[in-house]
Amino acid sequence: MKFLAAIITVAQLFAVVIAAPTLSVTNPVTGELEKRGYSKFVSQGFNDDFLPVWLQNAGYNTYYTGKLFNGHSHKTYNNPYVRGFTGSDFLLDPWTYDYLNPVYQHNQDPPTNYSGHHTSEVLMAKAHTLLNDAIASDKPFFLGLAPVAPHGTVIGNIEDHNITIISGEPIPLKRHAHLFPDAKVPRTPNFNPDSPSSVSWIAERPLLTQNELDDNDHFYRQRLRALQGVDELWKKAFVLEG
Ligand SMILES: *[C@@H]1O[C@H](CO)[C@@H](O)[C@H](O)[C@H]1NC(C)=O
Ligand SMILES: *[C@@H]1O[C@H](CO)[C@@H](O)[C@H](O)[C@H]1NC(C)=O
Repeated sequence: MKFLAAIITVAQLFAVVIAAPTLSVTNPVTGELEKRGYSKFVSQGFNDDFLPVWLQNAGYNTYYTGKLFNGHSHKTYNNPYVRGFTGSDFLLDPWTYDYLNPVYQHNQDPPTNYSGHHTSEVLMAKAHTLLNDAIASDKPFFLGLAPVAPHGTVIGNIEDHNITIISGEPIPLKRHAHLFPDAKVPRTPNFNPDSPSSVSWIAERPLLTQNELDDNDHFYRQRLRALQGVDELWKKAFVLEG
């Protein structure tokens, strides 16, 4: 009976899902983040005038977990808090892409360190909690889920140009780490051509070495594996308790 009620409720709802990878419209590495990203968003007045604010004004409850902005960090998250969400649990820089040491920040609580937990696993639990909160209310709702997988790992503070940034492969959940052993970057007709063509710097790229090819194939497999966690997220988030 409870299951039926939940299904009926959901049928009346408006749920929007934001799939990975998160869209980045700026280059976080070369830009000054105070002039871009979250701080720029706030200084331009958009924190008072964007989708979740409009939805709340229209009578929706709004929920979000995962990455929201570049430059949404342990320094900027409360200056001011993101507006418009009934419930939120954001990933914060500089740990957004640190798969096994993510930091999330719930509503107006201080940031929480999830060191040792895989970011996709943490997100699944948070999605489930937010969805249950949404269902417990009579209002229609919006739920945004923004996993970082299969973005590459980034460790280091991109706001601080004076420290080393380690950038590497995405890290899958352990249960997916063995999948797709034979997957490779598709060898399309223009893959690593003997004579480079095209324009600008692309025309000057040397032939990839075997080491580079192997690295790229490995990175590609890790991306596919990390995406399996995103598939699980959808399944788990939307399987309602009976
Ligand atoms: C999180 O906890 C781990 C393990 O205690 C620690 O190494 C790491 O520095 C902490 N991260 C933050 C952001 O405090
Ligand atoms: C960069 O880091 C080094 C080593 O920690 C330090 O000596 C130097 O003062 C830093 N430079 C700037 C501009 O912060």
